[in-house]
Amino acid sequence: MELVILAVILILVLIALGLLTNVFFSFLTMSLFGGAYFAGTSRERLKQVFKLANLKLVDKLLDLGSGDGRIVSAAAQAWVKATGVEINPYYVWLSRQRIKHLKLTQKAKIVRIDLWQFDTSPYSVVVVYGIGYMMERLKKKLERELKPGSRIISVYFPIPGWQAVKELGDVKLYIIE
Ligand SMILES: C[S@@+](CC[C@H](N)C(=O)[O-])C[C@H]1O[C@@H](n2cnc3c(N)ncnc32)[C@H](O)[C@@H]1O
Repeated sequence: MELVILAVILILVLIALGLLTNVFFSFLTMSLFGGAYFAGTSRERLKQVFKLANLKLVDKLLDLGSGDGRIVSAAAQAWVKATGVEINPYYVWLSRQRIKHLKLTQKAKIVRIDLWQFDTSPYSVVVVYGIGYMMERLKKKLERELKPGSRIISVYFPIPGWQAVKELGDVKLYIIE
């Protein structure tokens, strides 16, 4: 009995240490390299993103600020070519590990770059889970670069001045005219 309690305590301590390490590296790399604190898209929102995206095999998906790579990996698992753009080297490393582990390197890649320096024009589907203050600037960039018919999925933060074509919860789909 005592052994079981000890084992449970040990497991809890290990989980807490794992979480603390993650938070520590997030804040450390954030202050060194910039970017926002990573809040991954929840499972529920992930479903909404993919419903709205309605991906076809010919699509090329881009996740701007790709965090731990969950969107990029999920798209690649659906056989769609997917790229993540991430400024924080810790998340770049983490997401590349995920892609390798899931054997998705043929379909998925992560580019370590500031999203403002990245050309979005080759992509037909762009996912953004940005930060409120960057949406106005992001809108101008996407208007300049994306081709008519490109789909943009925005999680949580609406794109100012654009009319969503469809929404599920707080996830919105926009289409470039
Ligand atoms: C809210 S998280 C979203 C992560 C992922 N897209 C998801 O939905 O799970 C935003 C991510 O954008 C990254 N980020 C913030 N500013 C960036 C920039 N200028 N260039 C590239 N990535 C950036 C952050 O490091 C963070 O990982």
